[in-house]
Amino acid sequence: MRKNDAVLTRRGFIAVGGVLAASAVHGDAAVSQGSMASAPRVLDPFLGTQGVPLEVGAPCLQAPGETTMGVSWAVSGLAKGVVEYADNPEMSGAKTVRGGGYGLVPIDVNALQVRLTGLRRATKYWYRTITTPFTDYSNIYDAKLGEPIVSSVHSFTTLGAAAKTHFCVINDTHAQFKPFQMAVRKVKKLSPSVCIWNGDATNTTQQKKTAVEIFLNPPVEDRDWSADVPVFFESGNHDFRGSWISKKEEVVLPRDPSERRGDQWDLKWNFALRLGEMALVGLDTGEDKPDAHPKWFGLANFEPYRRAQAKWLEEQFARPEIASARHKVVFCHIPLYADPASADYPHDGVKVDPHDFAFWSRECSGLWGPILEKAGVTLVVCGHTHRFRFDPPSPGRRWAQVVGGGPELGVSSGKPDASRFPTVVEGLVEGGKLRVVVHDVFNNRVVLDKYL
Ligand SMILES: [Fe+2]
Ligand SMILES: [Fe+2]
Repeated sequence: MRKNDAVLTRRGFIAVGGVLAASAVHGDAAVSQGSMASAPRVLDPFLGTQGVPLEVGAPCLQAPGETTMGVSWAVSGLAKGVVEYADNPEMSGAKTVRGGGYGLVPIDVNALQVRLTGLRRATKYWYRTITTPFTDYSNIYDAKLGEPIVSSVHSFTTLGAAAKTHFCVINDTHAQFKPFQMAVRKVKKLSPSVCIWNGDATNTTQQKKTAVEIFLNPPVEDRDWSADVPVFFESGNHDFRGSWISKKEEVVLPRDPSERRGDQWDLKWNFALRLGEMALVGLDTGEDKPDAHPKWFGLANFEPYRRAQAKWLEEQFARPEIASARHKVVFCHIPLYADPASADYPHDGVKVDPHDFAFWSRECSGLWGPILEKAGVTLVVCGHTHRFRFDPPSPGRRWAQVVGGGPELGVSSGKPDASRFPTVVEGLVEGGKLRVVVHDVFNNRVVLDKYL
């Protein structure tokens, strides 16, 4: 592979066609405008790149674990890819990992995915992607490869009880890239151990390339935001909408198979892991209306999903390493609590609502709330309502709830509304207390700084 003739395209990607371009010199996530959605495409992309330069996105760390780490990245045409990783930034003695499991290694025209396994807990690693276009795949016997494209070297640290106790949460970004840029700039600055993307990343997703743009290659200045910060994803109600969205694991890696028992295989993004003194637990609240709602055309099966998660949740809190964590923090998209005196309270997602929108989930609250109480959970972090809120513990509920803001920048229904701003929720442990800080990334201020 050649490394000296790097060409950074106007979109900020590394292009390679008849002429190789490699990223090692310039980095793979330079400041740029536009996105891969506007990259040139061949008529049938599965026949190869056919002379059209391949563009490769910055790597995105997904589904982080204590001994595993997922890497996904965007490509503009037919390509194969591997990840190299090492215990040093020079990449000396690097191991090479291919995608998929046994048998055939997957290739794709939109996104590539590799899972690193067998890693050490709470350990820093350096890694890079190597992506090679199939310039011609009209016939397997005569298929031709282009030159490999090498990404910059990035790093991550695996989770575990010895890892640094520090998380960030973003939510309800809704493919609105102006507030998204504000949020991910803050995440990069805070440099947490992990970021939880707590749902409603999307709106309605009809095509894979839409999901690739949102999750892997957003048209923002800090498009490399997740190259060095591993991201947990929990779906919001919008992340179940659209004719393509049932295939989102092709873009957002689910949890590693070793974490999922056969009878819980469909709990694809649920997680319960130690991050230093905390246990982080991710749950999926699903859609915001009953399964029988006519809008779902018989496609909704969330009620059994919530019950299965209740069983899973009890089992997770019984694990010694989770039970022994000083603070247990739960992440899910739709709030689990609304003050009975608030206007939100009647809109609970269990009936066909005249507002057609649930502000909290009575069903999830009923199924999971007693388990959270028994386990001594400190904090539940949610989104969905597009308005920051903090609910301190109340009688019968020992856990506090923080609700992150949405994508609206000081407006609501076309009118000025100072209560609308996107947030980054930050959590760390100081002096044995869980400190939760909520950053308003629109007005650049802190709206909550509390010890729990
Ligand atoms: Fe939302
Ligand atoms: Fe939502």
